Amino acid sequence: MDEGKKRYRQLSLNFEEEGRKEGASKIFTGSPQKIPILFRSTIPEIPTTTYGTFSIYKYPAKFIPQIIAYILKGYANPGMKVFDPFAGYGTVGVVSRVYGYDYELWDLNPIINVIHDTATMRKAEINITKLMQNIKNSKEEFAPKWSNLEYWFPEEFLPILSKAWGFAHSLNDESKYLLLVPLLKVTKYFSYSDEKVHKLYRSKFSRKKIEELLKTDWKSKFYTMLSNEIRTLLRKIREYNHLNPKPVEYRIKSGIDTLETKLENEVNMIITSPPYLQAQEYIRSTKLELFWLGYDEQYIRQLSKKEIPYRPVSKIKIFSQKYYEFREKINENHLKDLYDKYFNAILKAFSTLCEGVKDYMFIFVGPAKIRTTPIPIDEIVAEHLKEFGWTHEATFIDKIVSHIMFESEINPASGEKDSRMKTEHLIFLRKSG
Ligand SMILES: C[S@@+](CC[C@H](N)C(=O)[O-])C[C@H]1O[C@@H](n2cnc3c(N)ncnc32)[C@H](O)[C@@H]1O
Repeated sequence: MDEGKKRYRQLSLNFEEEGRKEGASKIFTGSPQKIPILFRSTIPEIPTTTYGTFSIYKYPAKFIPQIIAYILKGYANPGMKVFDPFAGYGTVGVVSRVYGYDYELWDLNPIINVIHDTATMRKAEINITKLMQNIKNSKEEFAPKWSNLEYWFPEEFLPILSKAWGFAHSLNDESKYLLLVPLLKVTKYFSYSDEKVHKLYRSKFSRKKIEELLKTDWKSKFYTMLSNEIRTLLRKIREYNHLNPKPVEYRIKSGIDTLETKLENEVNMIITSPPYLQAQEYIRSTKLELFWLGYDEQYIRQLSKKEIPYRPVSKIKIFSQKYYEFREKINENHLKDLYDKYFNAILKAFSTLCEGVKDYMFIFVGPAKIRTTPIPIDEIVAEHLKEFGWTHEATFIDKIVSHIMFESEINPASGEKDSRMKTEHLIFLRKSG
């Protein structure tokens, strides 16, 4: 076992120990329990966070599947329906199928359709050699309606990309979904965008990558990479199907604004992770993909304008003392404005949508700071929702592994052993009465 892994195992064991102690002592306090947990090690049938189709594409702030599995195994009953109003990758749906629950997913980002439909495929068979031959022989062409196309791709690559995408768009059977995600990955690699950065970003590193690529037999490399990506996807689909997903009912609303959409039918529980307070810019991160999938500039711009927390939003009455307390600590006006927009948007969404929820809400939030002040988003959300008839039962506290893996033992600033641990919080609310 390498050093990083060994250290992580050690840390996680310590944390579970502490967790048990802390969880137990809180039982008697009368306030909601704080339960430390390592979700990623709670579900034996899902051995890793990247298992099966739970990670066929990078999506910022994606759920790990174990969080949803843990909730469904612990709190759902047969016949229940699950709802995620900020569904992103669609992980809630992909996991709900495994445990046999109906689901509804909403997101502003239309990429959810491709990811979800690929991740839930049953059949994983295709003749890759023949498929590559068909792409090479295809006369179909596709060019994204993107004025910045030449900024993001060297002109040499455009013919091969247009051909492959022209072919992909001409398909109308299941095989299309075996091609789209692999093609997105290869397209991104053949662009000036820096894959190491979530945002769409042209870096020195990525320019160098393309320079080097152009010196090689990049045409062969393109088809080899595409074939390999398809092979990986087929393996992941097979792995997912080992979990025996059930035939369930589902509905996806994509390209919609959650703040302006009504829930038509009641659901039993919300499981969601709302947008982050600190800039994520989901639409910008997936812009390159959206263009190649066929969305145009005007549509993408209009989606960006609706993104929380940047969009303008009308003020609501906020029932949280903590919200006002922390607002006072922010000095700069533009940050105060972001703080207001963020809370007005997510609290409006939750207090409207909760009317259609019969049993539980599980809301997952990451750590957020404004300048140096950590903002207790979980406590603000829970306080506000109490006013709408929801009891805050507990908060599960999970550690972010990637941060731990790269954290140094000694804090270089203080010279002390570094005990900072980044955590993510899952708020568990139950409908009162
Ligand atoms: C933290 S991410 C959710 C990630 C998700 N849990 C997953 O597993 O991938 C928050 C999501 O909120 C979406 N979002 C932002 N503003 C929105 C709006 N106004 N209406 C609907 N969705 C929005 C973003 O597109 C993003 O996918």
